[in-house]
Amino acid sequence: MSKIIVTAALPYAYSIPHLGNTIGSFLPADVYYKYLRMNGDDAIYICGSDQHGTPIELDALKKGIEPERLADDMHEEIKRLFDKFEFTFTKYGKTHTKENKETVYEIFNALYKNNFIKEVKSIQPYCNIDKRFITERFIEGTCPYCGGHARGDQCNDCNKLLTAQELINPVCVICGKSDISFIEEKNLAFELDKFELELSAFINRESPNNWTKNAINKSLSFINEGLHPRDITRMMKWGFPVPLKGYEDYVFYVWFDALISYIGITKEWDSKRWKDYWLDKNVRLVQFMGKDNLEFHTTMWPAILMGSKIGFVLPKTIRASEFLTSKGVKFSKSEGVGLNIKTALEIADADYWRFVLMYIYPETADSEFSIEGFEEIVNKIMNDKIGNLINRILIIATKNTNIIREVDSKLYREEIERLEAEYVLRFESIELREALRVAIELAELGNNIMSKHQPWVLVKDAANNPDSDSAKEFSKIIKTELLLIYKLAILLYPFTPNTSMKILLYFGIDKEPTLDALNVDSNSIKLSENIKPELIFSKLRKEQIEALERLK
Ligand code: MF3
Ligand code: ZN
Repeated sequence: MSKIIVTAALPYAYSIPHLGNTIGSFLPADVYYKYLRMNGDDAIYICGSDQHGTPIELDALKKGIEPERLADDMHEEIKRLFDKFEFTFTKYGKTHTKENKETVYEIFNALYKNNFIKEVKSIQPYCNIDKRFITERFIEGTCPYCGGHARGDQCNDCNKLLTAQELINPVCVICGKSDISFIEEKNLAFELDKFELELSAFINRESPNNWTKNAINKSLSFINEGLHPRDITRMMKWGFPVPLKGYEDYVFYVWFDALISYIGITKEWDSKRWKDYWLDKNVRLVQFMGKDNLEFHTTMWPAILMGSKIGFVLPKTIRASEFLTSKGVKFSKSEGVGLNIKTALEIADADYWRFVLMYIYPETADSEFSIEGFEEIVNKIMNDKIGNLINRILIIATKNTNIIREVDSKLYREEIERLEAEYVLRFESIELREALRVAIELAELGNNIMSKHQPWVLVKDAANNPDSDSAKEFSKIIKTELLLIYKLAILLYPFTPNTSMKILLYFGIDKEPTLDALNVDSNSIKLSENIKPELIFSKLRKEQIEALERLK
């Protein structure tokens, strides 16, 4: 049993998360966490709404309400949708809490005391029309590195972090004008440059622990390019006030308190037990995110933790997904492309999305979401290979209970156990998409057994001669298949929890499964009495496809 903290990069609380964010962080983290629970590990799963930042302050300003209300309303909405998506967080919290504020202050004070904070003067963009500093997302222009479309803090195309001053042809997003002056502003900066050695030692030490390739490559290249002090304050109102004289008009930069909220949210979950995880060296911290979140998570975040000298655990494993694209365009909210989870759930239940998204999980390369692909995975794999198999077996088994006898069936045992072992290996190395493919292979085996032994033929003979070889053979096949679908339900549980529970209920099981429950033989599992097998998955209906088409 290991102690593990699983985190998913926090969604911004200014809009409903898109499927692109979902597949990059919350969903794979949830799948992995559910596996860890099945494996009996002492794991917690932490995520929450990222509530600070300029977009919410400005939106609130426009609507004439408090940013906190806006951020809390969106937080509730996201939470509700995440529930429907069957995410089982240990805590889905938020960044604007007293626990997080405390943690941010504690870490900031420690960094300050340890001489990692300095005052910097920099020239910042100021919109003469809106009469305010416009940083990050409120200024856009052309990326000086790749010529792509960039925001004030990062290029949307090459993902490089930028400063607004580097932008070519900057435009204010609020008013759409380019009446921008660059004025000197002071800020507090975290001296990230002082961590180059410690960070590269950290990356070399930890990256063999199942880091994704992109995380290894990017983190090393950030360091090779040289690290620089990074601002951690902003002159604005919405956020945590900076507790330092001369900084009364400032709050912490959204990324600073968002990263720290992994700890803050754990405190929000449990004011005592958070320490058992964040301050125990033996805990494995496993962090999921999209690749565009890599720079903060592989440089700023570990450096902040190191610099605090408080003894927090460092990220042991970093899993960064590539992008999910749609018609060759990245799924992202800033670009307004792609589907959000609310719309997605109106079209199909969570298990369909969970399965399809994990099937195309961009674990090692960008992958494409298309309506045709969605339809194909639902119809050919979920419905045909899995749903139909389970349904056929349940029907034939329930119709012929009087024929099925106690037989010791070891048929296909090796094949089944080989797949189970492979499934565990895939999860242990956090290859989630591959783990799903193994579960599908088990369903394929089930289908092959059906076509090879044709129990529907055997059953005729068996019905007439209960003592015949056919009756024995029929019993063996059905028992093998029942065991197989029972196991399939367990293996599918991290991916399609609702459906798995539905299948397990046919076997009289109403509790979350464990991997130990795989250690049974065909005589120790029984179908409950009087069950009425329902469809497990169904093909996409015309209305569902039309609804998807309308989103194009
Ligand atoms: N809200 C950020 C995004 O969506 C991610 C924040 S991750 C955290 O890009 F570590 F800072 F919390
Ligand atoms: Zn403006």
